[in-house]
Amino acid sequence: MKDLYIVANWKENKSEEESLNFLNAFAKVYQPRPDVKVVICPSYSSLSAVSNFIKDHAIAVETGTQDVSELEEGAHTGEVSASQAAEFAKYSIIGHSERRKLGETDEDVSKKVEMAVRYNLKPIVCVINENVPIPTAVKIVAYEPVEAIGTGNPDTPENANRVAAAIKSKYNGVLRVLYGGSVTSKNVRNFCEMENVAGVLVGGASLDPVEFSSIIKQC
Ligand code: PGA
Repeated sequence: MKDLYIVANWKENKSEEESLNFLNAFAKVYQPRPDVKVVICPSYSSLSAVSNFIKDHAIAVETGTQDVSELEEGAHTGEVSASQAAEFAKYSIIGHSERRKLGETDEDVSKKVEMAVRYNLKPIVCVINENVPIPTAVKIVAYEPVEAIGTGNPDTPENANRVAAAIKSKYNGVLRVLYGGSVTSKNVRNFCEMENVAGVLVGGASLDPVEFSSIIKQC
């Protein structure tokens, strides 16, 4: 039995109240599994509330951010530093294609990874294929082909497995490759049973507490 990561990427969704409503509903149906690590990545505006709620209610879930600043704490209006994020989160998604589309470069990703690691945030670096450079120190990668994100058209499990294997053989330090793109409770098992796929990064289907708990159950 391999350990799996199920990571929720809420993107620019949910107010603080909606985030806590999710957790209340999720806690009622979620069945933690010893072989599955669950990470929820809300917006910064609800991160502290989510993290405190999880602690107070002893829910077996960890938190992550969806991005992190490449800059150290200081005079950088609008930025959230890795040290600030690490107060409430253990992981950080870095280099999501939706951010790269806004201009984030491989170099930015590499600086962000450096900051994350410096402050004990574990980076989950997103790549659209096996040719995107992955900074050393990265142990968790999410393979997310752009055409599969939010479209209802996931990649095939076999191709996800092929890309995951290629990434692992190219980068010795990468221990896990997750798959992301239109994952639901209906298809999650097909991906997770692939030899080289170590879990999933879930966008749309992670917004609903019942569907997300079902993804965890089915994986
Ligand atoms: P999706 O998004 O599950 O809504 O396709 C995945 C992601 O972008 O991380």
